[in-house]
Amino acid sequence: MKFLVNIKDLVKESLEQNMIFERKEALDPDYVPANLPGRERQIKELSINFRDLLTNAGSTSVSVVVVGKHGTGKTVTVRKFGEIITEIGKERGIKIMFAHVNCRKHRTVFLALVEVARQINIIVPNRGLSAQELFRNLHEHLEKRKAYLIVAFDEFDYLIATSPIEDLYLLARAYDEAGFAEKRIHYIFIIRDLSNIMKIDRSIRDQFMKNVIDFPPYTHEEIYQILKDRIVNEKAIRENAIEDEALRYIAEQYDDARLAIEALELAGKIAESEGAPIITVEHTKKAVSQLNPEYDVILRTIKDLDLHQLLLLKAILELDQKTLSIDVIENEYRNVAIRVGERPRKHTQVYDYIRKMKMLGLLLPEQRKGRATVVSVPDIIREMKNVVEEEIQNRLKEKEY
Ligand SMILES: Nc1ncnc2c1ncn2[C@@H]1O[C@H](COP(=O)(O)OP(=O)(O)O)[C@@H](O)[C@H]1O
Ligand SMILES: [Mg+2]
Repeated sequence: MKFLVNIKDLVKESLEQNMIFERKEALDPDYVPANLPGRERQIKELSINFRDLLTNAGSTSVSVVVVGKHGTGKTVTVRKFGEIITEIGKERGIKIMFAHVNCRKHRTVFLALVEVARQINIIVPNRGLSAQELFRNLHEHLEKRKAYLIVAFDEFDYLIATSPIEDLYLLARAYDEAGFAEKRIHYIFIIRDLSNIMKIDRSIRDQFMKNVIDFPPYTHEEIYQILKDRIVNEKAIRENAIEDEALRYIAEQYDDARLAIEALELAGKIAESEGAPIITVEHTKKAVSQLNPEYDVILRTIKDLDLHQLLLLKAILELDQKTLSIDVIENEYRNVAIRVGERPRKHTQVYDYIRKMKMLGLLLPEQRKGRATVVSVPDIIREMKNVVEEEIQNRLKEKEY
């Protein structure tokens, strides 16, 4: 039987053929790229805050708060800054270390400090000490090594919510106590929402609030630059394997860099699975709708529709217009039903289906235009033609048995 595909060849081909991606790892959420478009001001402000560490090390303990919503580049920017200031320190003969702890994973000040110690290869007993003692321990190790340490407490909101005041006091004021000649430990606190800091007791809040660097949501142009940089400089995707319009399309949908990069990766996977040599706007549209948190809900809703409701939805999607009058929908529905060999349902039934679809959110009610009742189709539904088609085919097959 010659027409059958050789499965081994198919597997081999699919393993080798990689027309879209070149360095896929450059799209990983933890990847730190060389450039950070749109974050020049924030990097400059961080540097200015830490200037003393290079010119007058040990004179003060620096403490900076970085604040911004999800996907505004806080983590990547701080990690990059840590990397670079360590490097510059080395060039100037100042031993600077950098640790980055995620407070969602290390949920007390004590556990966060244990993680810091682990990252900089200091062995500390992980029981029997208080957070204060652990801090002192860390400090003494640094003293011995003549080193300075910058700790980034990422997702610090979690620690604020759960820590006793003494622990927060430790982070804000440890060096206020006598007995520390050199100030060796410095902080960057990364938070989502400044109002969380407002919940801290007044006596230490001001300390946290001294240096605040804000990370506003990206503009669509900045998102475009970020994506472009991942492609052109980081080589995540082969040159010419994405249409510029497709990239623009993604950039227009998001102000969150994480989601935008995720959408780019998904669009690449979709193009790849279709065997397309290039990511087009169609692929990015699909990716964006699949990433929509509503997508799964709508998918299930569609799968619960009965055959004629699906045929009606197919008719609506085939008409491919933003708003439609019910008369036009009904006409098209009749055609679609007849084409698949089904007897169209009566007008009242069709009306009822439309009412139900509005309730399910598959259609949106619109203003009456003259005497006709019109509905509109949400964008996310318009991207689900394939799902509807597939579901119809399943139902028709089921009917055969
Ligand atoms: N200015 C930027 N340039 C390049 N990549 C960025 C930039 N900002 C964010 N990213 C990328 O977007 C994703 C989310 O960034 P992240 O730093 O985790 O955001 P946040 O910590 O604010 O939620 C990461 O993959 C990161 O590499
Ligand atoms: Mg983060």
